[in-house]
Amino acid sequence: MTGQVQGKVALVTGGASGIGEAVAQLLAREGASVAVTDIDDLKGPEVVAGIKKAGHDAVFLHQDVTSEARWVEVVTEVEKRFGRLDILVSNAGIGISVPSIVDMSLEDWRRQTAINLDGVFLSVKHCLPAMRRTGGGSIIMMSSLAGLRGALNLAGYCATKGGVRLFAKAIAMECASVGDGIRVNSVHPGIIDTPIWAKFQRTRREAEQTHRLIRKNARGWPRRSVAPASLPKLPAVCCIWRPMRQAT
Ligand SMILES: NC(=O)c1ccc[n+]([C@@H]2O[C@H](COP(=O)([O-])OP(=O)(O)OC[C@H]3O[C@@H](n4cnc5c(N)ncnc54)[C@H](O)[C@@H]3O)[C@@H](O)[C@H]2O)c1
Repeated sequence: MTGQVQGKVALVTGGASGIGEAVAQLLAREGASVAVTDIDDLKGPEVVAGIKKAGHDAVFLHQDVTSEARWVEVVTEVEKRFGRLDILVSNAGIGISVPSIVDMSLEDWRRQTAINLDGVFLSVKHCLPAMRRTGGGSIIMMSSLAGLRGALNLAGYCATKGGVRLFAKAIAMECASVGDGIRVNSVHPGIIDTPIWAKFQRTRREAEQTHRLIRKNARGWPRRSVAPASLPKLPAVCCIWRPMRQAT
């Protein structure tokens, strides 16, 4: 690894699993101190223990990204512990699949929107001032291919991820207009084989369909990292998935 983020401080939401876990590990390997946040109090500390065992600096903070009060506490804790915040990876998300949009309850629609969209809004609202105090940085919002085009049975998910995409563009314009030195990107993975797919399913039939979908369409696994130098134009966290055909 090349120390691309040496001395930086990163906050990764949803860092206990899948893409967030891989992002946290990669940022740590590249030299950042990483605050891993998640609602999963079992796996989050395990991820941090693994990062520390490898000789890097990390902390786990319990966080539900939909709680504004907790965002205030988390940002305060990160600044207190590490003295600054340079990188926000707003990654926590869920997916709710329904056979038809008429089957979707308002409760599920709101839950998914609260985590995928409100959570990203709150992350930026509370991390941007800290990053401005640092004097610059990078915000990465985890959207999806489903934020660029529609996906069958995932209308609500698409709505949240499309929202994240345009939210990122608007925040990028704000940061550029004030010249605060903060870069803003949304990331749009295709199908990555992570635990999120198991959480989509409610019936055995859905589980079989999902398994077939992943086998046919998965673009990669989260932990097979590409050397960042081979993708120089992308932010470091874009390099966490690797086309399966090239995987070793
Ligand atoms: N896996 C894919 O194919 C894929 C493709 C495109 C985009 N994404 C996006 O990537 C992100 C990560 O997905 P993943 O595949 O790694 O899923 P994952 O289920 O493996 O990880 C998601 C993490 O988010 C956490 N989380 C859920 N609700 C939370 C909340 N309210 N507050 C804090 N943390 C919460 C979970 O506990 C989990 O650790 C998501 O935003 C997802 O929509 C995934």
